[in-house]
Order: sequence, then C-alpha cells, then structure tokens
Amino acid sequence: MDPNPSSLPRPRRRPRRLRRSPVIRGLVRETRLTPDRLVLPLFVVDGQDRAEPIAAMPGHARLSVDLIIRRCREAIELGVGAFALFPAIDPKLKTPDAREAVNPENLLCTAVRAVHESVPQACLITDIALDPYSSVGHDGLVSGGVVLNDQTVDVLAQMAVVHAQAGADVVAPSDMMDGRVGAIRAALDQAGAHDVGIISYTAKYASSFYGPFREALDSAPVDDPNVPKDKQAYQMDPANVREAAIEARLDEAEGADMLMVKPALPYLDVISRLRAASDLPIAAYHVSGEYAMVKAAAEKGWLDERSCMTEALTGIARAGADVIFTYAALDYARWWRDGLL
Ligand code: PBG
Repeated sequence: MDPNPSSLPRPRRRPRRLRRSPVIRGLVRETRLTPDRLVLPLFVVDGQDRAEPIAAMPGHARLSVDLIIRRCREAIELGVGAFALFPAIDPKLKTPDAREAVNPENLLCTAVRAVHESVPQACLITDIALDPYSSVGHDGLVSGGVVLNDQTVDVLAQMAVVHAQAGADVVAPSDMMDGRVGAIRAALDQAGAHDVGIISYTAKYASSFYGPFREALDSAPVDDPNVPKDKQAYQMDPANVREAAIEARLDEAEGADMLMVKPALPYLDVISRLRAASDLPIAAYHVSGEYAMVKAAAEKGWLDERSCMTEALTGIARAGADVIFTYAALDYARWWRDGLL
C-alpha cells in the first residue's frame, strides 16, 4: 500500500498506536476494576431454606439466613467480601413508628449475628433507615404529612448501636436526614463501638431507579393523604450537584468514613465532583433499576449483558468511585475469574 496515498497533511501524533493490540491496550488501561472493590447487596427474609425471587432483579431473591450464609461464602471464594444487608420485614411487624428497627432480636440483627459467626471474614454493612420497618414506607418518622428530621435521627442512632452490637462492621445511613452522621458517630462511640465505620449515603437522589428495590422490600410510600407520596423532601433533587458538595463537607465533618453517591450512572459528574472535593474513599451505588435495565435488555437480546454491565461498572470506577455497590458483583467476579474481562 502506498504509505502516503494523497498529499494531505498526516498526523504526527496517532493515539491509535496505543490501541493496536490487546497487550498495548492492557499496558495503558487507566481503570481496572477488581472484584475486591465491589459490595454485594443481599435481601434477607425470615425462615429456613427460603428463596423468593424478585421479579425485576433477575439473579436476586429474598433469602433466608442459611442461604445468605451460603451466598456470602460463594462471594468470598470469588473475591467479593463485603455485603450490604437489607431485611424484608414481615408486614405484620411494620408500624408507623418503625419500632421493629431498634429491636435487637429483629431479622436484620439475627442475620448479622449468624453471618458474623459462620463467615467471620465477611464485612457486613447494614442499612440505617426506617423504610423496611415503616408501615407508611418512609425512611423517617412521619407526622402531619412531614418526615420529621431530629426525631428520626434519634431512632437512627439507636438503630446503629443495635446493629453494631449484633456485629455489623459498618453502618450505612441511607435516610438523608440532616445531622444523622454526627449523631450516629456519637452514639456508636458512647456505646464503645469505636471501630464500627460509617459509609454515609451522602448524595442520595430522589430517583425513580429504586423501583425494583422497593418491590423487593415492599417498602414504597403508601397512598395516604397524610403521608408524603415520594421522598423528595429529604432525598436530593436529581438536578443538583453543588448541593452534593455541601452534603459531602457536612458528612466529612460529622465523621463519615466513606461518602456515597446514589444512583451511579446518571450521577457520574457527582461522583467525580466528590472525588475531587474529598480525600475520603468514595462509594457509588449502582442501584436496582440500573441493574434491571441491563438485565431486561439482555433478556430480550437487545444488549450484551457482560459487556454492557462491565462498561457501566468501569465507567463508575473511572468517574472516581473506589467502591461500588452492585447487584452484578457476583456476575462480574465470575467473569473476572474466568478471564473474560
Ligand atoms: C432506603 C433505601 C433504598 C435503596 C437503598 N436503601 C430505596 C429508597 O430510598 O427508596 C435503594 C437501592 C436500590 O434501588 O438498589 N433507605
């Protein structure tokens, strides 16, 4: 071939040189997402040998504690050692004051104790918010059509202590009440739980991508004129990013060990902003709806699951997330093990 088929000017710098072969691409790859940066969310339900599939989350089910333990062992084999536990509470135990949340014998605490005992190397992250226990489906106490802030924070702080006493390694407040990180830190320290960390859901948006999760826990806000119909009066407006920086400064000052952005893909700029604004580790939650989108399109044959899921997770890491909570953690870890990535 004529090396210079025309007399048009030719580029001296050719970025394609570094894309010529898999080996060269490997040398210059900027982001490598290893399975040890993933957190696997798990849904716990009462009972024994019980697995209730969640329709909009293929591959996930509400699992009884014995099956949770088995799942944790499987994950650890694959290099995923951290788990975010969410309880599917019996509707009979849900009340307007969500009092089951602070019962040391509740489903979540029982699960934490059992997993901690059988799989001591697992890092157990528990969710701090009232919605799984609330008969009205809110993360806080509701009165006069409003989700109360400071009264809720008192309950959340108690809840964190109860989780720590059951053996939680990290508590993760996902409720978006003001001042909860500081209150939880103080309560944990007072209870002697100095080593229990806090991953704060710092910038949690009022997102519609949580749909499948709310189905899993049956935790959506109820239809009642005295109950806010959505979570917009506490979760953040998807249009805002500076506000996330304010939340980050507050959470850092209040003692958070890690900051989280949630959801992930529609908020890559927020991840990158917090990465630049703080030296704390940044986590991102690739939420149920983000997972469901890829799974559903793959089931229809419209997208390739492995490459799309991997591209999404790599993008989240590239934006600046050190840690990613994802329902695809086990799939990803298997692809990684099998040398498919
Ligand atoms: C509630 C909570 C939610 C999620 C995690 N904790 C839902 C909500 O705020 O309504 C969503 C996770 C997901 O969609 O995967 N405290």
